[in-house]
Amino acid sequence: MDTDAALRQIEAAQGLEALQSLKVQYLGKNGLLTQQMKTLGSLSPEERKERGRQLNEAKGRLEAALEAREAALRERALQEQLEKEALDVSLPGYAFPSGGLHLISQIQQELLGIFRSMGHSVVEGPEVESEFFNFDGVNMPEWHPARDMQDTFWLQKPERFTIHGPFGEDVGDLGGALLRTHTSPMQVRYMIQHTPPFKIVVPGRVFRYEQTDASHEAMFFQLEGLVVGPDITMADLKGAITELARGLFGAEAKVRFQPTFFPFVEPGAQFAMWWAERGRWLELGGSGMVHPNVFKAVDDYREKMGLPRAYEGMTGWAFGFGIERLALLRYGIPDIRYFYQQNRLSFLRQFRN
Ligand code: DAH
Repeated sequence: MDTDAALRQIEAAQGLEALQSLKVQYLGKNGLLTQQMKTLGSLSPEERKERGRQLNEAKGRLEAALEAREAALRERALQEQLEKEALDVSLPGYAFPSGGLHLISQIQQELLGIFRSMGHSVVEGPEVESEFFNFDGVNMPEWHPARDMQDTFWLQKPERFTIHGPFGEDVGDLGGALLRTHTSPMQVRYMIQHTPPFKIVVPGRVFRYEQTDASHEAMFFQLEGLVVGPDITMADLKGAITELARGLFGAEAKVRFQPTFFPFVEPGAQFAMWWAERGRWLELGGSGMVHPNVFKAVDDYREKMGLPRAYEGMTGWAFGFGIERLALLRYGIPDIRYFYQQNRLSFLRQFRN
């Protein structure tokens, strides 16, 4: 057996398996060295001593070489594995664009939160409305200017769908079909279906047939509030609007009411909020005490449906305002068209929550 040749083979072994077979080849039960060891017995004592010493030395060298090579191979395998599995934490990651709520949705949620905290239920109504709920029911008789073609998107009398009343009844005979111009029709729908006392808020999309400009859109959102009960007063209205102002602009906020005409309320008042941070009043919307004619229209409808009149002796307050307007003022946005036209994602992203 050529010990040096064996050592070279061991050092050149390229894997643990190859190394193992070399070990078997030389040191195994039938290995070359083992076989030579077995021949020692047939030698003379002097020869045996010398030969035994040589073989033992060779065995020691082979064992040491095997061990060293094994350690080296294991180390190399480990290094290779580490390299293969290495993570380059400095590589840029994949950007998954995340969605966000539209600014108007965010403000709507904020407003609903404020009213929920005062005990209001949130209800919604249809966008395609009958003339009766949008106008007549809220004391806007035929001669009212808001019923002019200029302001309303009238729809052809629906042939393939029906406008339903609060109980699912067909109200096709109660006037024309239109896109609601405000959220106030939901006052009538809700009152027909429920008996006081109650507190509600109605968020929703409304439509106006008008030229768009920096402060007018043909579609926008409103929030309507309605509280009805046996002893509801204008003080309750002022309290609620004050609470709204505080929710929006902080504890320092103040409110201001100025007499105005709205057909569905008497007395009616427009209201503004004091924005302390900017030192200015924000004219926000309309409000007032529910007009007796609204209650009467509701009770007449209830009677027609075979329900008892429920609003005689009741009082209530209502308000309504545009959500976009609040957003424009609060964030200093110069043009309402940024919200829905021109696909202004770069604009909207600034407000991603
Ligand atoms: N519906 C009115 C509008 O769209 C806003 C409004 C004013 C609603 C006074 C009310 C109210 O409930 O009391 O211009």
